Amino acid sequence: MKRILAPSILAGDHASLKDSLLCADQDGRSWIHLDIMDGHFVPNLSFGPQTVADLRKHSSLFFDVHLMLDQPQKYIEAFSAAGADLISIHVEPDYDISETLGKIKSMGKKAGIVLNPATPAEEVFPYLSDVELVLCMTVVPGFGGQSFMENVLSKTRALSSLREQKDLTFLIEVDGGVGPEQVTPCLEAGVDVLVAGTAYFKGDKKSRDEFAGSIENY
Ligand code: DX5
Ligand code: ZN
Repeated sequence: MKRILAPSILAGDHASLKDSLLCADQDGRSWIHLDIMDGHFVPNLSFGPQTVADLRKHSSLFFDVHLMLDQPQKYIEAFSAAGADLISIHVEPDYDISETLGKIKSMGKKAGIVLNPATPAEEVFPYLSDVELVLCMTVVPGFGGQSFMENVLSKTRALSSLREQKDLTFLIEVDGGVGPEQVTPCLEAGVDVLVAGTAYFKGDKKSRDEFAGSIENY
């Protein structure tokens, strides 16, 4: 399976997110990662469905929408209508996860389940056959620019072997603190999609191409 670098637009200039989207598109990426934050589940706010809908008009990139929300079930329709291709929801908050995953699928979108660094992999085992993606956070969510938590790779290795044992097909994604030096450890630990905000958008074209190439040509 071809590995993917998904630039996180959270690290873009929020006065012109379209420019960051077009940068990733013109660089030749296939995914863009959109971090949605409610100031409750995580101590930060980012942007909402209208921003996603306006960005959607400018690119056909795969919109990987990461809902860091206490009550994500209330926003599935809105982000589906806005043009999300995949909607991922966290396992930690108190809501009906299976019902919400079903709602995402009923809207014709791919579904993802997300776990924070401190959350054991076992928490997502009940949902593995219902999702197309498992996102293992490699920082405590809320802010870009944090340091990568290498111990999370024991979770991606466990999920990768379980996927093989059970003949499942979900993708494994990591998000947070990912830079060029994390590429080999992540790919060797079963990761398929690497989300990168700061490390991608702070670089010039040459460094972005090298970074992405080390993943997409692995
Ligand atoms: C955390 C966000 C960030 C972002 C990537 O809540 O999800 O992880 O996508 O940020 P960087 O790559 O700048 O750490
Ligand atoms: Zn994210």
